[in-house]
Amino acid sequence: MTSLNCFLILAGLTGVCYCRKTTINEVQVVRGASISIPCLYDSKYEKHVKYLCKGHYWRSCSYAVKTNKLDTNGNFLIQDVKEQKTFTVTINHVDTDSYYWCVVEIDGGADDREFFHLSVSSTPALRVDRQKMEGFRGGNITINCYSRSSGMRKWCKLGGNCVTSSFQLVDGRKVIINKNHSVYSVTMIGLKQENSGWYWCDQGQFQMPVHLTVTERPATTLKSVTVTVATTVTNVTQPSVKERTDPTILFISLGVLIVIVLVACLVWFVLKGRQAKTEPDMEKTEDKVVYSDVTFQKKKTTEIAPESDVNVIYSSVVSLKQQDRRVKQK
Ligand SMILES: *[C@@H]1O[C@H](CO)[C@@H](O)[C@H](O)[C@H]1NC(C)=O
Repeated sequence: MTSLNCFLILAGLTGVCYCRKTTINEVQVVRGASISIPCLYDSKYEKHVKYLCKGHYWRSCSYAVKTNKLDTNGNFLIQDVKEQKTFTVTINHVDTDSYYWCVVEIDGGADDREFFHLSVSSTPALRVDRQKMEGFRGGNITINCYSRSSGMRKWCKLGGNCVTSSFQLVDGRKVIINKNHSVYSVTMIGLKQENSGWYWCDQGQFQMPVHLTVTERPATTLKSVTVTVATTVTNVTQPSVKERTDPTILFISLGVLIVIVLVACLVWFVLKGRQAKTEPDMEKTEDKVVYSDVTFQKKKTTEIAPESDVNVIYSSVVSLKQQDRRVKQK
């Protein structure tokens, strides 16, 4: 681990400080929170044991967790990510201010170490919504850093540089920084897979580490496919249901109508038939008018259906009843 290494480039011209810092050394959290702190180490220590030591003084600190000796209580976690030359220590249920040491164990020599101070506050000086962020390759990601003070606000890459304003590059990516009185948002544009790793918000005194993971973007294409499928399915099913229900209703109502009409016709015909049958009885009383009608009907029906019952009856009625009138008419 190297010591704090800050240098100014074109400070007089731009007023921008490209600070190179390899670790985070002042973090504030709310009581009971969990916090992950990344510790960068030299590539030559890849195979070494790493550990977290708790205590204000190096000589009197006691290890909390080691890569080869895990904490059985689960209060401390340690994870060595060799590709990023970083080991991450996670402290769960932070309850008091404490000093910690990120340490690389060196056999037969002084261990390589760097301290950080973890303090507790109900209103942390610097905080983020989440420490773990995920972005997609080619996409952008925005991190909100909530800061109480209006000191020099920066966005830094662990083992890389810091940026303070828009259009500067951090880890090869252009950033857009929007500053508000209580929050500054950092947007990294056109992410690449190699941008995965630890960054931190920095407002001068305090830091807040944020881990970024950049992955391929399979979700959006899948989503759009499923969405289109869903819409086509609904487009197909909904009208087809309507097409199915509408004609059936139509056919049923038509059928019912036809049946009603048929029944009505039948009833009408039957009634008419009965009337026709009963007519001769009525004719007994009213002779004159009925007779002329009967003869007329007879002529008509004989033309269409000569063998119908009505004709026979009628002729019989006519012949039976008043032959004298018939003679008169003819
Ligand atoms: C990323 O940000 C840039 C600059 O604001 C913008 O032009 C681009 O459309 C953004 N890309 C995505 C995927 O949102």
